[in-house]
Formats: sequence, C-alpha cells, structure tokens
Amino acid sequence: MKTKKLLNPMGHLNFLDTTSSLPFLFLFITILVASQIPLGCTGQAHSSNFTCIESERQALLRLRDSLTDESNRLSSWIGEDCCSWDGISCHKITGHVVTLDLRNLEQPELYEVLDPSYHCKSCLAGDQLSPSLVNLTNLRYLDLSLNNFSGIQIPTFLGLLKDLRYLNLSDAGFVGEVPRHLGNLSHLRYLDIGFASSNYIPIANNLTSNDVGWVARLSSLEYLFLRGVNLSNARDGFLAVSMLPSLKTLDLASCKLVVPHLLHVNFTSLSSLELGSNQFLNPTLPPWLRNLTGLQDLGLSYNNLDDKVHDTFRQMTSLVNLDLGGNHFDTSTLRSICNISSLTSLDMSDNELQGSIPSEIGQFPQLTVLKLSNNRLNDTIPSSLWQLTKLQALYIGANALTGELSEHHFAKLKELKRLDISDNLFSLHVSSSWVPPFQLQYIGMGSVKIGPRFPNWLRTQKEIEKLNMANAGISDAIPSWFGVLSNDFRGIILPGNKLEGSLNSFISVADVDKKVVQMLYLVLNHNHFTGSIPKDLCKLKTLEYLDLSNNHLSGRIPLCLGNLRNLRILHLGSNSLYGQIPGSLGNLGELIILQLSKNRFDGKLPPSMQNLKRLQSLDLGENRIADTIPPWIGERLSDLEFLTLQSNNFHGGISNTLCQLPYLQVLNLAHNDLSGSIPHCFKNFTAMESTEPGTFQYSNYTYHDPVLHNFKAGIELEYSKNMESVKSISLSGNNLVGEIPDEIMGLVGLQTLNLSKNHLNGRIPKNIGNLKQLETLDLSMNELSGEIPPSLSSIYSLSFLNLSYNKLSGPIPSGNQLQTLNDPSTYEGNIGLCGKPFPNSCPAGESPTENGPVLDDKDYIIIYNTKNNKKIFFFKRQHHINHKTVQSQSLSSFKSA
Ligand SMILES: *[C@@H]1O[C@H](CO)[C@@H](O)[C@H](O)[C@H]1NC(C)=O
Ligand SMILES: *[C@@H]1O[C@H](CO)[C@@H](O)[C@H](O)[C@H]1NC(C)=O
Ligand SMILES: *[C@@H]1O[C@H](CO)[C@@H](O)[C@H](O)[C@H]1NC(C)=O
Ligand SMILES: *[C@@H]1O[C@H](CO)[C@@H](O)[C@H](O)[C@H]1NC(C)=O
Ligand SMILES: *[C@@H]1O[C@H](CO)[C@@H](O)[C@H](O)[C@H]1NC(C)=O
Ligand SMILES: *[C@@H]1O[C@H](CO)[C@@H](O)[C@H](O)[C@H]1NC(C)=O
Ligand SMILES: *[C@@H]1O[C@H](CO)[C@@H](O)[C@H](O)[C@H]1NC(C)=O
Ligand SMILES: *[C@@H]1O[C@H](CO)[C@@H](O)[C@H](O)[C@H]1NC(C)=O
Ligand SMILES: *[C@@H]1O[C@H](CO)[C@@H](O)[C@H](O)[C@H]1NC(C)=O
Repeated sequence: MKTKKLLNPMGHLNFLDTTSSLPFLFLFITILVASQIPLGCTGQAHSSNFTCIESERQALLRLRDSLTDESNRLSSWIGEDCCSWDGISCHKITGHVVTLDLRNLEQPELYEVLDPSYHCKSCLAGDQLSPSLVNLTNLRYLDLSLNNFSGIQIPTFLGLLKDLRYLNLSDAGFVGEVPRHLGNLSHLRYLDIGFASSNYIPIANNLTSNDVGWVARLSSLEYLFLRGVNLSNARDGFLAVSMLPSLKTLDLASCKLVVPHLLHVNFTSLSSLELGSNQFLNPTLPPWLRNLTGLQDLGLSYNNLDDKVHDTFRQMTSLVNLDLGGNHFDTSTLRSICNISSLTSLDMSDNELQGSIPSEIGQFPQLTVLKLSNNRLNDTIPSSLWQLTKLQALYIGANALTGELSEHHFAKLKELKRLDISDNLFSLHVSSSWVPPFQLQYIGMGSVKIGPRFPNWLRTQKEIEKLNMANAGISDAIPSWFGVLSNDFRGIILPGNKLEGSLNSFISVADVDKKVVQMLYLVLNHNHFTGSIPKDLCKLKTLEYLDLSNNHLSGRIPLCLGNLRNLRILHLGSNSLYGQIPGSLGNLGELIILQLSKNRFDGKLPPSMQNLKRLQSLDLGENRIADTIPPWIGERLSDLEFLTLQSNNFHGGISNTLCQLPYLQVLNLAHNDLSGSIPHCFKNFTAMESTEPGTFQYSNYTYHDPVLHNFKAGIELEYSKNMESVKSISLSGNNLVGEIPDEIMGLVGLQTLNLSKNHLNGRIPKNIGNLKQLETLDLSMNELSGEIPPSLSSIYSLSFLNLSYNKLSGPIPSGNQLQTLNDPSTYEGNIGLCGKPFPNSCPAGESPTENGPVLDDKDYIIIYNTKNNKKIFFFKRQHHINHKTVQSQSLSSFKSA
C-alpha cells in the first residue's frame, strides 16, 4: 500500500499568514559568515600557484563517479586543478581541499513536491557516499544538504574527517541511527543533520539517535541543529547537549525529546535556543532557563507549557525573539513578559490568554512582531497597543476582541506591513477618504464588519499581496480600480459578502503581459456575482485555488480554464452553469478537489477527466449528467476519498471497477438511475474499514465551510467540520436489486449507510451490529424481508434509523440505543413486525432477546401484522432456515391465521 504525503498542500497559501516566527535561520547564517568559520580560505583560493593534490583529486573523482548527477552540477569536475572545481576550495598554502560544498541550492516549487512522481533532478543522488572522502584529510567544511541520499545511513567514516569545522547533512534523505563516530569530530563548530526550516521538504532526513553521548564530545560546538532527529529513546539526551560549553545556537525542535529540569547546565553561552514541539517533563519552565543570561532567541512553541507560578520570563531580560505559541500560558505570563523591553518579536498565539490585552503591552518600544492570535482575549484593544510605532506585524485574529476600529487607532502604525484582525467582533469605520499611514502587504480582516461599501482605502495600498475580507458585510460591486492587476496580488479571499455585478472588470487582465501575475488563490464564493466566468481568468496561470461557488454565474465553463495547469482546487458549485463539462478540464493534472455540483451540466463526462489522477474529491452532484459511471473513476482516480455523483442521470450498473479506491471514505451515488446489484467488492474500500480519520484534511482546502453533499434521512446534509472523519455510503433512490452484500458489514468505520428507495431484497445482514460507528441507517422503501437482526441494538451511536416500507417481520429488537429510536415511523409499512414501539406485543417466546428469536427448530414463525394486529404465520419450507431460504420466500408465503 502506498504511503501518502503528509505535507500541507496549502502550506504556502497561508490563510492565517504565518510568516515564520523564527528569525533564527537568517541570524545563523549571518553569524556564520561574520565569524568566518576558519576555512583557511574561501572559494577564491584558486588564484594561487598550485594545482590540487593528486590523491585528493582522485578521491573527488571517485566521489563524483559514485553520484548520480542528472543536472550536470559537477560538469566542472574535470582536468587537473580540482581546486577550481565548483564547490571545492583549497588551502592557500598547503593546497589541501578544505571545502566541499555540494548543497543543492535549487529548491522545487510546492506543487512539484506534491506530485507523487516528483523527482529531484538538481539533486546529487547516490545509494552510497564514497569512502574516498576520507582521503580529503584536511577537509574543514562539508555540506551535502538538500540532495538525495535516499535511504542511506550517515556513513561512520565521516568521523575520520578530524579537521571538520562545519558539517551540514540536513535534508538529504539520510535515515537510521546517527553514528556516534560523529563525536570524534572534536573541532566541529557547526553541525546540522536536521530538517531545513523551509516550508516543505522534498527529501527529509529520517534520523534517530538513541544515545546522544557522542554530542557531548563535540566540545567546540557552537551551532547544533538536530531539528526533527528522533531523540525519544535518548536517555539524558538533553543532559548531553546541556554540557556543551561553547554552544551559541541550539535547535532541537520536534525531536521528541524529554526536556528535564536540570540542576546544572553548561551551555550558558547560548544566544539562540529552539525547543519547539518536544516533551517537557514538567509543564513549568525549567529553572535553568534563567541561567542563560545572554539568551536572545527562545522558541518553546507547542510544548504544553505554562508558568503561572514561577514568573521565569520576568528575569530573562536579554530576550529579543520569544516564541511561546501553542502552550497554556495565560495573561499573567504575558504581563510578566511585558517587562522585557528588549523584545522585538513575541508570539503567544494558541495559548490561553483571556480577558483584555494588558495595557502593559505598550512597554515594548522595540516590538516589531506581535502574535496573539487564537486565544480568548476579549474587550477592546488597549490604547497602548496602538502606540507601538515600530510594529510591522500584528496578528490578533481568532479572539473575542471587540470595538469599532477607526482611523485614529492606526495613525501611528506607519511601519505596519502585516495585519491580521480576522475572526473577532470588530467593525472598521473609516471615512471613504482615509489614507492609512501604512502600506500593508497582508490584510487579514475576515469577519470584520467593513461594508456595506467596498473599502475605498484599499486604493491607497499598493503592496497588497494577500487580502482576506471574508464575511465582511460588503454589498457592493468590486470597483474597477481593484482589478487583479492593480496590485501584485497573490491571494484574494472575499467569500460570504454580497459582492455583485460581473467578474469581468475585476479579472480583466488585458495587459497581462506587462505585469507578472502571481495570483495563487482567488476565493469569491458565496457572493452575488452574475454573468459568465470571464475568459481572462485563464490568464492567471499561477492560480492554484479558485472558488467561484455559490454565486449566480451562468453560461458555460470557458474551455481555456484548462490552461490553469497549477490549479489544485476548483469550486464552481451552486451556480447556473450549463453545457457539457469541457474536456479541457482534463488538463488540470494537479487538481485535488473538483466541485461542480448544483449546476445544470449535462451530457457525458469527458474521458479526459481520467487524467485527473490526483483528485481526492470529486463532486458532481445535482446536475443533469447522463452517463454510465465510467470505469476510469476506479481505475485511474485512485486517490479519491470523496466521490459524489448524486442526483444526476447516471445509469447502468455499479461496476466492480469502482472498488479500486482504497482511500474512498464517502461514496454518494444517490438519486440516479443505477441498476443491478451492489458489488460485493465494496469491501475493498479499506478507508471505510477504519475508524481513523482519513489523511485528507478537507477543511484545509476550503475557505468557507466545506460542503459535501450527502444524504441523511433523505435530507441533504452539509458537512462543515471534520470532513476527514466522515465515512459514508449512500446509494438511495436508484433501481438497485439483489441483497445487501454481507461484505459491507466489514466497513466498520461507516457512519452513514443509506440504501433506501431501491429494490433490495433478502435479509438485513445479521451482523449489521458490526457497524458500531453508524449514526444513520436508512434501508427504507426496499423489499427486505426476514427479521430485524437483534445486533442492531448494539450500535450505540445510531441516531437515525429507518426500516420502513419493507417486508420485515418478527419482533422488533429492543434495548440499548434502540430504546431511544422508538418512533413507530421507523418501522411502519412492514406488515409483519411486532412489539414496541407498536402496540401489539409479540407472542410469548417470540420476544426479542439479544440473540434474537430462535428460529431453526420450528417449521413456522408467528409474526404480527402491525396494521391490524392479526397473527400471521410464516411457514418455512426448508427445515434449516438460513438467510438465503428466507430471502427466497415471497410475500405470498405469508398466511393470515
Ligand atoms: C489542517 O489544518 C489544521 C487546523 O487548521 C492543522 O492543525 C493541520 O495541521 C492542517 N493539516 C495539514 C495537513 O496541513
Ligand atoms: C607559491 O609559490 C611560491 C614559490 O614557490 C611559494 O613561496 C608560495 O608559498 C606559494 N604559494 C602562494 C600562495 O603564493
Ligand atoms: C531519491 O533517490 C531514490 C533512489 O535513488 C529514488 O528512488 C527517489 O525517487 C529519489 N527521490 C527524489 C525525490 O528524487
Ligand atoms: C586514498 O588514497 C590512497 C592513495 O592515494 C588510495 O590508495 C586509497 O584507495 C584512497 N582511499 C579511498 C577510500 O579512496
Ligand atoms: C522513519 O524511520 C522509521 C524507522 O526508523 C520509520 O518507522 C518511519 O516510518 C520513517 N518515517 C518516514 C516518514 O519515512
Ligand atoms: C560543566 O561545568 C562544570 C562547572 O563549571 C565543569 O566542572 C564541567 O567540567 C563542565 N562540563 C563540561 C562537559 O564542560
Ligand atoms: C544557575 O546559576 C546559579 C548561580 O549563577 C547556579 O548556582 C546554578 O547552579 C545554576 N543553575 C543551573 C541549572 O545551571
Ligand atoms: C472577558 O473574559 C473574562 C475572562 O474569561 C471574563 O471574566 C469577562 O467577563 C469577559 N469580558 C467580556 C466583556 O466579555
Ligand atoms: C479487491 O481487493 C483485492 C485484494 O486487494 C483485489 O485482489 C481485488 O482485485 C479487488 N477487487 C476489485 C474489484 O478491485
């Protein structure tokens, strides 16, 4: 079974605009350059009067020959003078190779990485690292990062390079245990074997170190990056690191490391410490933090920390950048931090801040970045915050802050570039002639009441990259000055307003050639736009996410939409679009979500759609598509997790080809004209066998609440949250015949099973009670016969049950959850049922038990006609009753007593 990428596909779309809170990376590099790690020489060494040492040249050639170099990065590695080769430099006096820098500087675009067939051409690759490297005896600087040594271990012989000062093996596909031999590199001052801190990592290391003792031997180490190295089994791992006396920068983020409260630490020269996402032994801050008197950068995010008692930060007065996001700190901690007047960046998003923002927040004269999003802050913003004149980024979204924001609040924030005040209870009241003092690049004003007029001040903002004014109460046309070309937009999010008029002038990109359009997302759903989809849209070639759903758009889908080759998400649902789905959509090979539901599309599905191999959600519901279910859906779209074809004119049978969708978690074929029987191979929907949520986090792909059509109790449900947990099959309202396959009872993750309004016959599978997650079971309006399996009563999550209008007979099972589902309509229209909730009781001996009535040793069953309370005898023809024989009985075998 293939593994799926767990990268956040929307990583760089950043709705909440999470610019890195780690200024560290840049810091490191500058420090490094400034302090001139003693390389003896730099790349210019070649101007001297020697050529390289022959044995070293040979060693380099062996290294070259052991590597796959698809993009010819090592093409300069020919001739005698190896000191002049790319990536090499030699010592000015001795001529020894001292630098080998093979870092791959060419990093892929996100969409490339997400392609399951992504292949890194610019990577040097190899299934081994040539041991000839050890002949570079004077090597001081070795950088192999961001290449592809996919699956090999870090070779132990690197421990022989005794002169190394700098070793960087980050993100090059190294796996397994880190060799303790690295501990022999006693001159090492810089070591990085972790994840790069970039957004997405094509070929990550997957390293473990079960014994970090080797680190303790690197006594000259100043920079240590083990980000992402699994240290969960390294007992005293942190102790070893804390012994390093020269350490200036330490990155142990995401190491699964136990961070204890030590009695003694030696790394008191630390100026930068990153410990995000680890396992602190104690929720309070380790007291040794106070001994790091020179600490400037501290990252402790996502560690379940709080520090209500100790007030540790009050004493950490050297701090400049502090990241405490994702912990349990409260407002008292924030108050104590307000002491640290040197702070320039503070992140306390995702904590338990409540009440008002303390007015002490004004005590940070140097503050440039303040992140307090996603807390429970309420009340109005204290006036002192508006005095932070150096602020460049203010993130206070997703709180319960209130107030009417006006021009004078922002008057001093001249430096502001990034502002997120989304999802609070703000309104913004400014005059239509307001000229803000700032030029914003990011505007997050989702759910801020801004309308009804389109904000005129946006006209003054010439640097906007991303704008979010979702649900802002704007009832207006988009003015012509706000065309996609008026700015260097990368993303616009305006759903849930009442924006009106045609999209033409907004998206008019007539002079597109003169401008680099880099629009990544355009989210305009739930508005009142009219007219057709403008063809100019097709010129936004970089678009990855387009949502025009829930408007009043009409006309056909422009064929040229197929030119948007980067599109990953396309929502056009709930409009009045018509015509055939254009075959050009088959060019959108990156699509993950295609939603065309609730329009008037007709005709057949274009066969080119089989090229949409990356689709995880296909929603074509409520159109007029008249086709058979094409075999390529199962054969080619094998990543599908959500398939919704309901309420169209799909006809023919449900073929076995559909069963090749192991990740499918929602199958909705309801209200079509499908015939034949339900395939037994539905058991192959393995995702429905699991009670775990799927990997596809739908909510990360939709701005407005995601909508997936399903049927519950015959009523359309709009799922909003937790789409990834939904597991459902709906085949209601077709012409399906035959029995309910027993195999479906193996899909134990199912929450909804709706097979109503078909012609299914036979019995309800006895082991239906296996479907413990079922919340909705609708088998009504079929021709099901036999008893209701007593196991039904063991489905505790069942909240909707409909078995009406079948030919069911026998006692109605009771007990447990069924006790609450006691509306007679659940069972009506079955002439042979008896017992509660009907007034007729079953005859003695026929009352249902947990094991059901005993049938096999009688040659008839007594059942009751619930309508007239008359006894009915159902004679068994065979002596041994089993599912099949009962199913073969028709209604005519019922006889009134
Ligand atoms: C999806 O979003 C949730 C919360 O918004 C976040 O925790 C999660 O990491 C995201 N998933 C991916 C795969 O990005
Ligand atoms: C170059 O050659 C001269 C004479 O052989 C020697 O003195 C000198 O050290 C060499 N290196 C450089 C860098 O000039
Ligand atoms: C890395 O190398 C391995 C083995 O050579 C190869 O299978 C894999 O596709 C490469 N990965 C990338 C992303 O290029
Ligand atoms: C190192 O160089 C020596 C001689 O120059 C050679 O014999 C040996 O094979 C080399 N070692 C490696 C590992 O390439
Ligand atoms: C990393 O390696 C461990 C075994 O050491 C393995 O269980 C895990 O699946 C690997 N993770 C990834 C993402 O490859
Ligand atoms: C740590 O510091 C203590 C006291 O200053 C010293 O005795 C000890 O040798 C140091 N340990 C290391 C590994 O430097
Ligand atoms: C912190 O420093 C104090 C005195 O400077 C010392 O007594 C204490 O042991 C140190 N604590 C740690 C954890 O190193
Ligand atoms: C703000 O939150 C605090 C603490 O949760 C609560 O006591 C207070 O009543 C709230 N104030 C307002 C105005 O909602
Ligand atoms: C169902 O899965 C089994 C085993 O994985 C496979 O052999 C069979 O071909 C699949 N059936 C269909 C119809 O895809």
